[in-house]
Amino acid sequence: MREMDPSSGEPSAISRRSFLKGATQVAAAGGIIGAAPASEQDAEVEPEVETLSGSASMELLVNGKSRSVEVEPRTTLLHALRNEMKPPLTGTKEVCGTGSCGACTVLIDGQPAYSCLSLAVTCAGRPITTVEGFGSADAMSDVQQSFCDKDGMMCGFCTPGFVVATHAALDRAPKASLDELKYELSGNFCRCGTYPHVFDAAQAVQKDRARGEDGR
Ligand code: FES
Ligand code: FES
Repeated sequence: MREMDPSSGEPSAISRRSFLKGATQVAAAGGIIGAAPASEQDAEVEPEVETLSGSASMELLVNGKSRSVEVEPRTTLLHALRNEMKPPLTGTKEVCGTGSCGACTVLIDGQPAYSCLSLAVTCAGRPITTVEGFGSADAMSDVQQSFCDKDGMMCGFCTPGFVVATHAALDRAPKASLDELKYELSGNFCRCGTYPHVFDAAQAVQKDRARGEDGR
């Protein structure tokens, strides 16, 4: 059936059939998953878009322990840690939620990663280390202790991410210069401006570890 052009009152040059046919071809050319192939015969068939929904239970290996979580495909690792675990692991902080600040940094496969940008389902079975995995209030890691000793925090929201990133940086580059440390930690932002104290803390750990290796 031809449709009327409201401006001219004449039959429209573009029919519903040709519009749908064109739209289907554009979708297919653009690689949209689930778009129906275009053909003369099925031009009026609406494109089908496949969506993933529902939740699934899985095991996440966090700080050396297997933890069961029920997550949707869209659930971030950050959300799973803070909201889906029993008990929750709230040491990892959410600040920007968009991969800009580093407050949510954890180790995945030993490498620092923004947990707000990592989907929980992609982390199943991979070793994950959060700030809780390095030490506790009663038994802090050397980096955690050094952040306390050097006043490496004000509001503290960025601190867990910095602690995780500092552990990773010092493991990767134990003898890093100050400039190299700044580069290694450049994925973490502190809105309170505690950077000099953070770098002091990292350098103090470097010195302590070097003394330990030298046996002095
Ligand atoms: S909360 Fe993930 S990068 Fe800011
Ligand atoms: S101590 Fe407040 S954001 Fe870093």
